[in-house]
Amino acid sequence: MNDIKKVAIIGGGTMGNGIAHVFAQSGFSIQIAETTEELADRAVATIEKNLQRMVKKEKITETEMSDTMKRIGTSLSIEEAVSEAQLVVEAVPESFMIKKEVFETIDKHAPADKILASNTSSISITKLAAVTSKPANFIGMHFFNPVPVMKLVEIVKGLETSDEVYEIVKDLAEKLGKVPVPVHDSPGFVSNRVLMPMINEAIFCVYEGVAEPEDVDDVMKLGMAHPMGPLRLADFIGLDVCLDILTVLYDGFKDPKYRPCPLLVKMVDAGKLGDKTGEGFYKS
Ligand code: 3HC
Repeated sequence: MNDIKKVAIIGGGTMGNGIAHVFAQSGFSIQIAETTEELADRAVATIEKNLQRMVKKEKITETEMSDTMKRIGTSLSIEEAVSEAQLVVEAVPESFMIKKEVFETIDKHAPADKILASNTSSISITKLAAVTSKPANFIGMHFFNPVPVMKLVEIVKGLETSDEVYEIVKDLAEKLGKVPVPVHDSPGFVSNRVLMPMINEAIFCVYEGVAEPEDVDDVMKLGMAHPMGPLRLADFIGLDVCLDILTVLYDGFKDPKYRPCPLLVKMVDAGKLGDKTGEGFYKS
């Protein structure tokens, strides 16, 4: 189980292509499963663009880039993508129902000793693991955007995750040049339990007319040395993702401190989701 060479990534969006990028760059053979040819091509093109940026900055050579690209394949079928993988990392949209369907499909086609990891940003690892026939082999592997740059991987142990699987995944994160941090399964884990209330509070400041978005962000950038202000970061993460995570926190703890700001709900309803739609708190 601990001789992992082949990895399947389910979903080639922002997180999925970043995860595929770092695994491939570290020598793993990757299959990305996507739903359409266009999305699969876009995932590969994004990885190529990000590798090219690293070549330009002389962080990797042209040869390293082409070797990395050669390790990446795509498939329109989850069954096909996972058939030879020893590790599967799921990075599909942040919805329990979508993830449940994906893990049911993987479970049907995966050999029993495969490790299944979810990149969920807040959904219970224990609940996702319960969809599969081997919850001991299930774990949370929570990467951060932009994946090639951010050092952290939150490693989330579900109720039944085995110590062996935890150790293997922790070592894997280190092989990717990341820093694994262990956390127990709890809504939002540590990262989003701390980050999202800050983002939500920044949105309340705008909603209540305390300050303009740029000014809220300047306070946090210049006063607290954050690389991006919370509203710029919310646009970068996706306002729909922020709302989904806050909803998981609110439902999970039944504590009003996690209630999503009505302005966030309104912006998501209007389709202003941030960078991915060209408009959120900022126009991109
Ligand atoms: N791939 C590869 N490299 C990238 C990259 C990408 N997608 N995006 C940026 N980079 C590299 C650049 O090449 C540059 O490298 P260098 O330092 O060697 O020159 C470096 O990152 C900095 O990039 P830029 O100079 O272009 O831009 P900035 O200095 O403005 O940094 C940033 C961009 C790294 C995104 C920085 O603004 C930052 O750290 N922002 C905060 C990001 C953050 O908080 N992410 C976590 C989000 S929460 C999350 O993901 C969890 C989820 O559950 C919600």
